[in-house]
Amino acid sequence: MSQVKLAVIYYSATGTVHAMAERITQAAEKAGADVRLRQVAELAPAEAIASNAAWSQHFDRTKDEPKATADDVVWADAVLFGSPTRYGNVTSQLKQFLDTLGPQWSQGLLADKAYAGFTSSMTAHGGQEATLLALYNSIYHFGGIIVPPGYTDPLKFADGNPYGVSHVTGGNNDAPITNEVYAALDHLATRTVRIASRLKD
Ligand SMILES: Cc1cc2nc3c(=O)[nH]c(=O)nc-3n(C[C@H](O)[C@H](O)[C@H](O)COP(=O)(O)O)c2cc1C
Repeated sequence: MSQVKLAVIYYSATGTVHAMAERITQAAEKAGADVRLRQVAELAPAEAIASNAAWSQHFDRTKDEPKATADDVVWADAVLFGSPTRYGNVTSQLKQFLDTLGPQWSQGLLADKAYAGFTSSMTAHGGQEATLLALYNSIYHFGGIIVPPGYTDPLKFADGNPYGVSHVTGGNNDAPITNEVYAALDHLATRTVRIASRLKD
């Protein structure tokens, strides 16, 4: 059985989704996958980034990390996309990346892979599920196979999001990721690797 190739492609302004993506990477590698962790390009104007200390610091810390390309999706057997919520939708930065995939889409190169998503929001009912469902609209058009975690493990009753994995950052946008969410990220990673492995057989 050949090694599963997993791309973890995300946008993060202030570091939450970045931390979630790193956790997924560790869990997927532990599950035996060859993982590419890639951030999508920042599109916001420099003034907007400079106006928010947490955004500015995260941008400076991660600006030299590898950027996602279309080849990362084509290469992968499975893709986990991460985006903070923006009014119940994916960020324009991640959406812009999806919108550059037209040539690969038209050749069928995005189809038949396993996909799922993870997100964060400031408030508990702030649009996490809507964000994941909005992300999945694009996956349908890819002909992708969405691998929602559902309640396939008892730990999903603790984090409570069957659509993917999500974290609430709270009023100061800095609430630490909980053990329940870490467990759900590990589960998302290992389950996606397992299903992608079956799809390859
Ligand atoms: C323009 C904008 C819209 C946002 N919309 C929502 C929202 O609808 N609901 C919510 O709970 N949080 C909202 N947030 C908060 C972000 O989702 C939160 O800061 C993010 O999840 C943190 O992730 P990050 O640290 O990876 O950037 C919004 C933030 C911005 C900048």
